[in-house]
Amino acid sequence: MRLKHCHNFHDFRKLAERRLPGPIFNYIDGGADDEVTYRRNTEAFETCDLIPSVLTGVKDVDLSVTVMGQKLDMPVYCSPTALQRLFHHNGERAVAAAAEKYGTMFGVSSLGTVSMEEIAQQINTPQAYQFYFHKDRGLNKVMMERAKNAGIEVMMLTVDSITGGNRERDLRTGFSIPFRLTLGGLIQFAIKPMWGINYVTHEKFRLPQLEEHVDMSGGASSIGDYFTNMLDPSMTWSDVEEMVKLWDGQFCLKGIMSADDARKAVDIGCTGIIISNHGGRQLDGSRSSFDQLAEIVDAVGDKIDVIFDGGVQRGTHVLKALSLGAKAVGIGRMYLYALAAAGQSGVERALELMHAELERDMKLMGCTSIEQLSRKNLRFRNVYPTHIL
Ligand code: FNR
Ligand code: LAC
Repeated sequence: MRLKHCHNFHDFRKLAERRLPGPIFNYIDGGADDEVTYRRNTEAFETCDLIPSVLTGVKDVDLSVTVMGQKLDMPVYCSPTALQRLFHHNGERAVAAAAEKYGTMFGVSSLGTVSMEEIAQQINTPQAYQFYFHKDRGLNKVMMERAKNAGIEVMMLTVDSITGGNRERDLRTGFSIPFRLTLGGLIQFAIKPMWGINYVTHEKFRLPQLEEHVDMSGGASSIGDYFTNMLDPSMTWSDVEEMVKLWDGQFCLKGIMSADDARKAVDIGCTGIIISNHGGRQLDGSRSSFDQLAEIVDAVGDKIDVIFDGGVQRGTHVLKALSLGAKAVGIGRMYLYALAAAGQSGVERALELMHAELERDMKLMGCTSIEQLSRKNLRFRNVYPTHIL
């Protein structure tokens, strides 16, 4: 299968599985524990159906939105994800270039493999920087200063990863950072020689947001170890309030799942929240982000930008989230599989498909601008037998 034969999420996933060594594919593809939340994230979109209007005159469709003060040409952005140069040797550079081509936002992760400064130089579309709250409070300040100096528009503090989720696939494959070859993994790499050649012939793997502060020489550790050893489990709302004040700009919390927490985010001065369960990679059994969306929009949607991610594979998933009141929608695995499949052209193809689906589905819905989407466009199915309601 080649890139031109990729027509949807599943095609990219298949191609990524073919290109990547097993431990790396499973790092992207996996979730926590029994992966219930991970599966549920996508299934939840099927609890409701779209209701189209007809004969509304839909010749020109405008997909642009303004979120966190940033104008995006489409309502879908590339959510921050770690370690992208493991998936393709161009990593973040490829994703950022593709996001720029489609006029949308790209989020650099603090576990990114290209520096936030380099990406800020490279692209002219809005950039977010995602960070975690480290035990080393000095490091938190340095990160914010670096982001400010680089001209980054949006800060995203991830609050759902205070300790590592139980990723059993990674435990089985021995996936670690910095990436190390284990004897068992060697066979996996031997059968994906192209990945191996690219990995060793391109610049050395680095974590440029962190390397000056974190000693990686002690050997490989898991993502879970990083969360558990480096991040500060004593973080509270008042610590974050200080950071919001210090940043003095667009600041959102990524990983909000309850209306109460969304209200607290408003109280401490955040300008956005991202409803997210980290793609089902942290607390398994947590509700799907889509199931929580309406309640949170009702609680704070008039005071703060409510953004959404989790399980998005289709333009219609995006339209459902926007109809419920999300201002923009993040994708993770969809562009990561595409990155692994074909680097920048892969991510461009994923965004092109998403853009085309959105444009087509908006026309079929009878809408020409995103503001026209509303709850009138949705009906929830009665998913429970009536006798237990
Ligand atoms: C992530 N995600 C993530 N989030 C974050 O705040 N910082 C990070 O470094 C990462 N890293 C990361 C790596 C990989 C491989 C994945 C799949 C995800 C979570 C990400 O930003 C987003 O919330 C989810 O991926 C959304 O769910 P979908 O679209 O993958 O279903
Ligand atoms: C993950 C991190 C790094 O989900 O956020 O793997």
